[in-house]
Amino acid sequence: MKKLTLALAGTTLLLTSQFAFAEMHPGAALHESANCMSCHTAKAYNPKITDTYPKLVKKVQFCSDNLQTGMFEDEVLQIADYLNETYYHHPK
Ligand code: HEC
Repeated sequence: MKKLTLALAGTTLLLTSQFAFAEMHPGAALHESANCMSCHTAKAYNPKITDTYPKLVKKVQFCSDNLQTGMFEDEVLQIADYLNETYYHHPK
């Protein structure tokens, strides 16, 4: 019974945090839940290294594949869009 209560509490927490993301860019929530920041601090996203939008999409795809996130292409694009708005500012 105690285990069940814990499991339920965990679910509520998850739902609450997903709810909080609803106000943000959809890519921001994906970026958060895929734990990209465990390797990338804001500094690590460098517009000089990844200097065009298509390259950015490729790198997001590359990391997502590596991590086996199982993300769909549209989710990869949402993350790329979010990172572009936040760090890269490349024309599309
Ligand atoms: C296990 C560590 C790790 C995780 C977790 C990770 N990455 Fe990466 N990422 C790297 C490394 C290493 C590179 C450098 C490789 C390169 O640039 O070719 C990189 C490069 C990138 C770049 C280009 C960086 C630049 O300077 O422009 C982007 C964008 C990126 N990752 C996005 C993501 C996204 C989105 C996620 C989450 C789905 C993610 N990464 C998760 C290790 C990681």
